[in-house]
Amino acid sequence: MLTIEERERVLAPLEEAWTLPPRAYTDPAVWDAEVEHVFRRDWICVARVDQVGEAGIQLPVDVAGQPIVLTNATGGAEGIRALANVCLHRAMPLVDEPATGRHLTCPYHLWSYDLTGRLRTAPLMDGCAGFEVGDQQLPEIPVEVWEGFVFVCLAPEPEPLAPRLEPLRRLVADHAVGDLVIGGTIEFDSPWNWKLLVENFMEAYHHIGPHRRTFQPIYPAAHSSVPDNEGGPWSLLRMPGNRDDLDGDGRDGLPFLPGLRGRQRDELLAACVFPTLLFAPSSTLAVWYELRPRAHDRMLLRIHLLLPPETLARPEIEAAVPAILDDIDHVHREDIAVNEGPWRGLQAPLTGQGRLSPLERSIHQLNQLWLDRVDPGR
Ligand code: FES
Ligand SMILES: [Fe+2]
Repeated sequence: MLTIEERERVLAPLEEAWTLPPRAYTDPAVWDAEVEHVFRRDWICVARVDQVGEAGIQLPVDVAGQPIVLTNATGGAEGIRALANVCLHRAMPLVDEPATGRHLTCPYHLWSYDLTGRLRTAPLMDGCAGFEVGDQQLPEIPVEVWEGFVFVCLAPEPEPLAPRLEPLRRLVADHAVGDLVIGGTIEFDSPWNWKLLVENFMEAYHHIGPHRRTFQPIYPAAHSSVPDNEGGPWSLLRMPGNRDDLDGDGRDGLPFLPGLRGRQRDELLAACVFPTLLFAPSSTLAVWYELRPRAHDRMLLRIHLLLPPETLARPEIEAAVPAILDDIDHVHREDIAVNEGPWRGLQAPLTGQGRLSPLERSIHQLNQLWLDRVDPGR
């Protein structure tokens, strides 16, 4: 897929490394390989636990062409299941929109399943030889919850995710991201390759460009750093702030996350769990970038504001949330320009690989993970 020279440039130590070649982003055949070797193999984040924690919930999601419905028969994180959202009769998807109720009823011929995926009723099937309603079960997909994020994995008997994320969990533990809940959401149709957004999210080098008036004065590009991930399926970008006075509240006027001390109260973090979970804890809140890649040239992006329940319960927060979402929207629009631009540039015939800055260590780490799966040089 990549030439020997292109591979060597990606695999080189960071100081000598280059980006992925343009067709890693633009070629539909590479997307097909990603579907097969990444999105149908790796753990994929599809929800927050507070979206699916209630008994009776039914949340449809799609992973690499597999419709899935997240259900919860009993309530609580332990009750979360992921079922194939495709009827066992003639393949009609069962649930199109988020819903609540004790049954998943197919709109085609009204076969009805309980929230564990067992078929309960199938009208007018008398005379169908050897057909027992109670024997029919929707395929179940492995689920794991990590720091409040709900992951599914389409691979049979996948290796558990949490042990491989333990170093990352320790690095973000004081933010207690697992305790945060969604306080607001904005949505963007994003007609470019998903890796452009991931790479942009995971480097602060560009603070000097599109964010020179927003992030750069607060979180200077040159102060950012990335710890070694030892090849684990994650990356972390640290962006220390330059605020002197750390008394009172955070820069946005919200109370500090309760576990943070000292300089942690003026640091922005950005984390990626490969391939598509992106979240960024600040000193007062976190944002979750929910990426849903659809093709090599399109994805849906939802940016969720995550807050501690105590902050969400404060009376003034209702008025504050729209302003926080406006700020997030403003910064993301600065990023859209530098996603759309490279998307155009990557399609140009004279474009090739580019050199990485030492500040782009996360991109180097994520490229190793990508290459290992999509083009391991077999
Ligand atoms: S396709 Fe679902 S009941 Fe027929
Ligand atoms: Fe940015």
